[in-house]
This record gives sequence, structure tokens and C-alpha cells, in this order.
Amino acid sequence: MKKCFVWLAALCLAACSPKPSLMSPDGRIQLDFSCENGVPSYRVSVDGSPFILPSRLGMEADGQDLGSGFTVRKVRHSHANQTWTQPWGENKTVQDCHKEMTVELENPSGVALLLRFRVFDDGLGFRYEYSLPVDSTVITDELTGFNFAADGDSWSIVGDFESYEKPYRKMRLSDVDNANTPFTFRTDGGLYASVHEAALYDFPELTLRRSEGTSYVAALACDSPSDRRTKALVGKTFQTSWRTVQIAREAVGLVNSSLILNLNEPCAIEDVSWIKPAKYVGVWWGMHLGIEAWYDDGRHGATTENAKRYIDFAAANNVDGVLFEGWNDGWETWGNGESFNFTKPAPDFDFDEVLRYADSKGVAYILHHETGGNVLDYESQLDTALDWASSYGIHYLKTGYAGWLLAGHYHHSQYGVRHYQKVAEEAASRQIMIDAHEPIKPTGIRRTWPNFMTREGARGMEWNAWSTGIDPAHHEILPYTRLLAGPMDYTPGVFDIEYRSIEGDPRLKVWNGLSATECRVPTTLAKQIANWVVLYSPLQMACDLVDNYEGHPAFQFFRDFDADCDWSKALQGEIGEYISVVRRSGDRFFYGATTDASGRTLTEKLDFLQPGIRYHATIYADAPDTDWQTNPYAYVITEREVTDDDTLEVVLAPGGGQAITFIPVSH
Ligand code: NOJ
Ligand code: CA
Repeated sequence: MKKCFVWLAALCLAACSPKPSLMSPDGRIQLDFSCENGVPSYRVSVDGSPFILPSRLGMEADGQDLGSGFTVRKVRHSHANQTWTQPWGENKTVQDCHKEMTVELENPSGVALLLRFRVFDDGLGFRYEYSLPVDSTVITDELTGFNFAADGDSWSIVGDFESYEKPYRKMRLSDVDNANTPFTFRTDGGLYASVHEAALYDFPELTLRRSEGTSYVAALACDSPSDRRTKALVGKTFQTSWRTVQIAREAVGLVNSSLILNLNEPCAIEDVSWIKPAKYVGVWWGMHLGIEAWYDDGRHGATTENAKRYIDFAAANNVDGVLFEGWNDGWETWGNGESFNFTKPAPDFDFDEVLRYADSKGVAYILHHETGGNVLDYESQLDTALDWASSYGIHYLKTGYAGWLLAGHYHHSQYGVRHYQKVAEEAASRQIMIDAHEPIKPTGIRRTWPNFMTREGARGMEWNAWSTGIDPAHHEILPYTRLLAGPMDYTPGVFDIEYRSIEGDPRLKVWNGLSATECRVPTTLAKQIANWVVLYSPLQMACDLVDNYEGHPAFQFFRDFDADCDWSKALQGEIGEYISVVRRSGDRFFYGATTDASGRTLTEKLDFLQPGIRYHATIYADAPDTDWQTNPYAYVITEREVTDDDTLEVVLAPGGGQAITFIPVSH
């Protein structure tokens, strides 16, 4: 990406500091390095109080000492203050202001380690850059500690190496055994923080394991169930992702932080003109509800006829694209025996005709590659499959890895990380954007590879179709946890909350867990709308059956909505309780607020609007008697004119939400 403004401060080269410590630009966060008895460690204080007590640094490897015997050779300091831009994102312009310290170490076994620390006003990151005396080795463990100084409440999912679709838990820091990242907590002193990683390439994902009290240690994903010792295979030189800790004084400060993106490299794709956010609908929800199937058992969703119906709907409702799942051959056995064929359409899906029809209506075709986790087979077809898609002018591809292990390796192992990156790069070379399900977690690589638009990687809407479902507070946890890492294809927007439209449908079958008739969506209708704003994704889906949107007055919100956002701000909230967010796209603003199972009223100043402009506000609110459990459908749409001087009382029902569009009056 071109930098619109760069003020790269002079690298204070060779300014060997006598005191290896680093202060954030605003002077509030301090990181101190030490290497006592040859063992590197760091500690962090915030506003002068200890936040991370002395914690070990290093790795463990076969036949190599990567964690002790070190002597400090050199310490250098530098700082940077620059703004950079990206083709899409919560914010298209991002400020990167940090101080950096590198510490060069060496031990008698010939291991050289450069530790690179960066401290920002909103947190810190550090990474390991090793140079070994051998050509390769096996990393067996990471020694990085996070010895938090105080206890507090934390929100996380379990540190599983295979699935990230686990329910969130609110637990005391001192009670968590292991956790995935982003691992978010609020200390008893009122400080908010989240541990994660940035710029993960060719290394396993990071989880955390508690050693004692409030002390944690990095736990890298193992290679496979049969090889729990191997974490990574590395060469003579290697560097890890950044270990990151975002720090804020309010919960929304975490959401507004760009630290993860700032620790990633600039864009690697020269021409990004083809990379475009989009709103989409899809032949999808019917399969999850169990009234349609991915293959032709008499209930096939992706038929030519149904495809055209969805394309017509998209064209008539200002929706950019349509996803078709079950368009290809191989679903009868969900890919077992390498049966998925990524260039062979199902017999009742006339691919050329659907493509022609979508083109004629100006609607983008979103292709789908479910691999079932069989990545050996997928990689053997990848070139051909992507070339084939590209020959049709397809730019959007949803991938999926719904199966146990990736060719015998954990989804979140080094093997997995390599695979997802390979697909992203191969897709980029053919101008294809990716939306991955069952992915590795985002670590800000979208800055470098912005064609990797969005992904799942947490419990999404689908769980409401065939399981006891998602807790209402999940939507007020996600923005402060999983979404700190990057966008999520949650797929919001179910209007038929209790699935009334499929009652008595003869096609209905149980295909996974529970029957849809035993399930529902645990929110109000207005919250479904608000989630289009709150749960950021540059590819944003309205996931319900399109029949449930036809003629529905509240669908106007999605018609007006623009997935291509320029600027965003989380306004207020508390983790697991509520959140309000505003986003600007061009001269329009979209506001969303949601709450957990408790109703509440937010006072919202509209001072984010442009001064001197009158806006037409359309408010999609819960009705006075709305309640997610007893009366989820009731909503009220009101319209009024507002300016940046106004303040709104935003009333949210239990499990409810509110969404507002602000359109300049002259339009
Ligand atoms: C799981 C994905 O999350 C879902 O979106 C998809 O429909 C199924 N796998 C089938 O590919
Ligand atoms: Ca999934």
C-alpha cells in the first residue's frame, strides 16, 4: 500500500541503550527487558503499576538451546509515526505510531536471537528472530510467559488446536486452564487487555496455558494427535509471529485499536483494484435448516432454477453477490474418498447458464469449495480449480474445512497455517478473494494479502439451525475477542427467528444434531439488523431464505447498507454486556447497538456526524414490548432528521438491538 503520509523517524541506529527499556509514545506503557543469568525476560507496567510481572522469553527445540545462556550484544532503539491506507477495512486510513527496541543476544551454542519489541499507546508486540548453528530443527515448545500482575475477569474459548467454534466462557483469570487467543480480560484494577498474535506465517498458532495463579505460558498448537511434541519445523533462520497484548482503559478501546494490523507488513499485491467488499445472499440457510440439501436427494438447493431466483432477488435488492453451496459434484459423501470435484457442476446446476444470468443482472457469483478438511486432495486440484474459476471471471470464493484434521494435521498447526496461506496467495495471483470457513485465526495478514477478506473461525449463525444455539451474550463478546483479530463471516440477518416459515415443510430433515424445529435464533429482529454493523465483515451476508426478506420493511436497512466502509468507531460498551458501533461509508453512516439478555438504554451523542449537514435517520428499533424470548419479532421503524448536535436515547430490549442509517438530506 502506498503511504499517504510517512514520517518515519530517524532510526536511532547504534544508539545502544544502557537500559533496555521501552516506553509507549504517550509514556503510559513501559516494557523492561532483562537477561539475568542468561535467561531473557520482560515485564510491563501501565501508568507506573505492574501489569506483567517478569516473564520468561524463549523457545525449546530439539538439540538446541533457544532459551538460556544468552548474553546481550546490542540494544537499538527507533520509532515511527506514519499513516497508511488499505483497500478495505474498518478504517481505510490507519495511524501507526510506535517505539521499537531490538535486543541482540547470543549464547555459547551459537544461537543468535534478535528480540524485536514494539510499544504503542494501545499495547505492545514482540517477536523472535532466530539464527541457528544448524540447518533445521524441531521447535518443541515456546517459553514465553505472561505473568499477569492482577486477577480479573476473562473471556475466551478453550485452547483447542482443531476447532474454534466453541462457546465463550467468562472466567476469572486465575481459573482458566487454557485458552485460545484473542484472550481478553479486565483486571480487577479496571484495565482491559487482550493477548493475541500478529503476522502469523509458517509457524503454529498460539494458545495460552495457565501455569499457576494468574501466570500463563504460550502453548503452540501441536502438529497432530499422534505427534504432540512437534510444534514447528524451522530452518537455519526463522522468525515467529508477534506476540501481542492490546491494552485499553475502556472496553471499546480494544475494539478501536489497530495494533494487530500495524504489526503486519504492507500490501504485497500490486494492483488491488479488483478487491472489493460486497453484500451477499446465498443458497445456504435452507441446507442448515434441513429443508434443502447440498446434493440432489430430491431437496437440492443449488438448482439452476433456485439460483436464478436468488440472483433475481439480489439484483432487485441492491445486493452485490450470491453464494451457491452444493453447486459441484461430490457432496453425497461430504468429500470422503476425494469425491469433491471443483470443476464439475452438479447435473441439475447449469453452471454456464447461472453465470451468464448473474452477469446479465450485474450480480457477482460467489463460488464455494468445501474440502471436508481433505487438503491433500484440495491442493492437488487447487491450480486447476482456481484457473477454472478465473476463466469464468469469478472473483469471490468461499472455502470450507469442515472435517476432522487436515490430512492428519491439526487445523491450527504449522501445516494448517501453511495451507491457508498457500490458498490465499494462489487465489491472489488469479484475482480471487477468499472467505474461509473453519480457518486459522486472523492475525492481520489482510493488510499484506487483502484478498483474504473474511473468515469464520468462531461460532457463527449456523449453530442456531442445528444445536441448542448461541447464548445471547455471544454477540457482545465477539467484538471484544475474536473480532479483535479481524473480520468474521458470522452471517447475521435471520428474520424468521423461530423458523415459522418451515413449520410443516415436508422436506425438513435432521442432518446435524437437532432438528431446526427444536432450535431458534436467540435475538430480536432489530438485533439481527444491528449485527450487520456490529459484526464487521467486508463480505457481509444476509443469510436468511430470501422469501423471508421479500416485502419485509426492515430489509430496507440491508438495501441501504454498504459493506465497503471507510471509517469506524466503537462508541460504548462492556464485554459480554453491550456495544455500539458507527461506521461511515462515503457520506452515509451506519449505526448498530446490541445488548445481551438484559434490556438497557444507551445515550448516544451523534457528534460523529459531519458538522453542518442534516441527515435523514431511519431507526430500526425494538418495540416497547419486544423481548428475545417471548416477542422477538416486534420492531418499529421511525424516521427523523438529525445533526451532529443531537443526542439519541437508544432503547434496547432484552436480547435486542438497534440499527440506524444516516443519509445526508440532499440525497
Ligand atoms: C461449515 C460452514 O461453516 C458452512 O458455512 C458451510 O455451509 C458448511 N460447512 C458446508 O460447507
Ligand atoms: Ca463452520
